[in-house]
Order: sequence, then C-alpha cells, then structure tokens
Amino acid sequence: MTEEISLDLGDRKCSILVGRGLLGDIGKLVPGKNRRFAVITNPTVNPLYGKQVLDSLKKHGHAHVLYDVPDSEASKSLDAANQLYVRLSDAGFERDSCIIGLGGGVVGDLAGFVAATYMRGIDIIQVPTTLLAQVDSAIGGKTGLNLPGGKNLVGAFHQPVMVISDVSVLATLPDRDYVSGLAEVVKYGIAADPEVFALLESNVDRINRRDERLLEKTVARCSRIKAGIVQEDERDRGKRLLLNFGHTLGHALEVATGYETYRHGEAVAIGMLFAARVSEKKGLLKAKELKRIAELAETLGLPSQAEDRLEREKLISLMKGDKKSRGGKVHMVLPTGIGTTVISEIQDELLTAALEETGL
Ligand SMILES: NC(=O)c1ccc[n+]([C@@H]2O[C@H](COP(=O)([O-])OP(=O)(O)OC[C@H]3O[C@@H](n4cnc5c(N)ncnc54)[C@H](O)[C@@H]3O)[C@@H](O)[C@H]2O)c1
Ligand SMILES: [Zn+2]
Repeated sequence: MTEEISLDLGDRKCSILVGRGLLGDIGKLVPGKNRRFAVITNPTVNPLYGKQVLDSLKKHGHAHVLYDVPDSEASKSLDAANQLYVRLSDAGFERDSCIIGLGGGVVGDLAGFVAATYMRGIDIIQVPTTLLAQVDSAIGGKTGLNLPGGKNLVGAFHQPVMVISDVSVLATLPDRDYVSGLAEVVKYGIAADPEVFALLESNVDRINRRDERLLEKTVARCSRIKAGIVQEDERDRGKRLLLNFGHTLGHALEVATGYETYRHGEAVAIGMLFAARVSEKKGLLKAKELKRIAELAETLGLPSQAEDRLEREKLISLMKGDKKSRGGKVHMVLPTGIGTTVISEIQDELLTAALEETGL
C-alpha cells in the first residue's frame, strides 16, 4: 500500500509518496490538470523508466518533454544548468510549468537547482530512483551544483511539491549503488531511530535480496524521519545536523580521494564506524554497541575500514573544515547508543587513534 508522508513548512507543503509500482501511475499522482512537465533524467534511467513516466503523463492529459543529461557527477554544473534553462525557455516553459527529476541524487540536485532558479522558481517533483535519493537527497529541498573548487558550492533551498518514491525501481540498481544507499539507512538507525536499526538487523536476508515490501517499509520509515527533522530545522542549523553522522570523515575521505575511490555511502559507512570508535574511546558508547554497529555494517556489505591509508594530517585538517567544526577543533556527531547522538568536540589525539583503527 502506498504511504503518504507530509512535510509541512507552513507556507509550503511537500507530499512524499512511497510505494511499489508507482511510476506507471505518475500522471494520476502529480498535482494539476493538463499541466506541462519537463522530465529531466539521464541515459541510464531513461531506457529503464522514461517511457513508463511519459506514457502515464500523456494518458492523464499532461504535456511533456524529456531532457537527458549525461550520467555523471559532472552534470551537477552551472554549464549543465544553463543548457537546461535555454531548452526550457526555447520550449516556452512558464512559471506554472513543472519539472520532474527522474533519477538518482545527481539528476535530483541538478533538476532541483534548475527549478529553484528558472523564472525565479518553478515547481519540482522529485522521482528518486536510487535508494540514496529515496531516503535522503530527494527529501528536504537542498539542491546543489559543483564548482571546480568543490562539491555543492552553489545551491538553493527549494522544496519539492511532491516526492514519488517507487521502490520497484531499486531492482535495477547496480549492487554498489544499492549498498551505498543502505549506508544512509543505517545512518538513520544510529542517529535517529533504533527501530530502523532493529528492522535492518532482523531482516538482513530480505534487505540483501531487495525484498520490495521490506524496502517499501524501510524507505517510508526513513522518509518520515527525514521529513520530521526537516520540518523542525529546514535550514540545517540544529537537529538536521545530526543527519551528518558519519559524514565528517566521510566527506574528508571523498575529498582526499578526489571522489574516485568511494561511493558517497561507502565513505559514510567508514565515517560512521570511525565516529563510533571515537565515541567508544571517549566513553560515550558501550563496546557492545560498537560491535553491534560493526556487525550490521558487515552483514549488509558495507565497508568499515578504508581501502588505503591516506595522509592523516590532511584528513584531520579536512575534518576541521567541516560545517560543524569550530575554533580549529573537529566537532563530530557521535553515537551515544543506537538511536541517540550528540555533537562533541574531539581532541586530535583521539582522532589519530580512531583513524589508525579505521585503517587510515
Ligand atoms: N540534496 C541533498 O540533500 C543530497 C544529499 C545526499 C547526496 N546528494 C547528492 O546525490 C548525489 C549522489 O546520488 P546517488 O548516489 O543517487 O548517485 P547517482 O545519481 O549518480 O546514481 C548512481 C547511479 O545509478 C544510476 N541509476 C539511478 N537509478 C537507477 C535505477 N533505478 N536502476 C539502475 N541504475 C540507476 C545512475 O544513472 C547512476 O549511474 C551526489 O551528487 C550527492 O552530492 C544530495
Ligand atoms: Zn549522505
């Protein structure tokens, strides 16, 4: 059964639908009658799901065009955005038209940014097709483009009017991308909701088999957590920072390896284990809980150790540049149990010891 979760920001509302086989009904689900839609997708997702989406839009009386952008992180660029602005304007898209972002986090971030800025902002409906995008990036309205100097340096907050997460599409995800998305699910379990953690622990086989019913339940639960947090802290100033668990080292690893060695979720998985080790050393997390986290990560196929050693000073200095850090000290989200976290300042010596245990 389709679950509907509402994210209410007063003047703006977003409805998040999670279910199986939703893409074939998209024309019925989207708001508005006889509306014009620009579907932004990529050459991997388009042959798998593009026709289904367009057919359904057409069947329900909507007009549509489809724009492909290359399947690459490089599509999160001002150049790619500019090409889309020109195409939208040439095709006569107006203020009341709507963009649909059909793809993973890359397509979602680009489509979201274009929607945030074209004609000072038009509606966007996110149709996330990766697990990572369904549980995380499609919800919350953050959009971002990369500059040569770094990731997500240009962006805007622009809430989607609707998020349609069809878990059936996760069947075609490459293994690495699926497991990378699981890291963000584990993140919710440790940082916010022990029931998500327990759900994963007791259903490892079904998760690894990509059982649709379980995925539906898991994606819905994670969407509800994220929606609740965004509703309280849209602009990332308080509670939303807790969702950064695992990301302090995770981002540092991605930057230090030029985004080439690790998928985002893999780096986050290593970062979560690292944070758990730091927390245990500080006496905030029991050894048996650290073990529980490490065991779940392993059964889901998540990495807990780095591939190769990297320069430690560089990693620590990157962590000091993290958005939570202040005054030359690393501040990190630390688990104090399964489902509870604190943000805490960490001494360099402790970081060094935990990096050593993480194979860094
Ligand atoms: N805006 C946010 O709040 C936020 C949060 C986290 C991450 N992000 C961003 O998300 C991006 C990563 O997203 P991602 O992990 O989804 O990567 P991605 O968008 O690159 O997708 C991964 C791969 O899976 C393919 N794919 C997508 N759906 C598929 C399907 N159903 N079947 C088969 N293949 C499919 C894609 O074409 C791509 O090759 C990063 O750019 C990151 O910065 C944004
Ligand atoms: Zn993340």
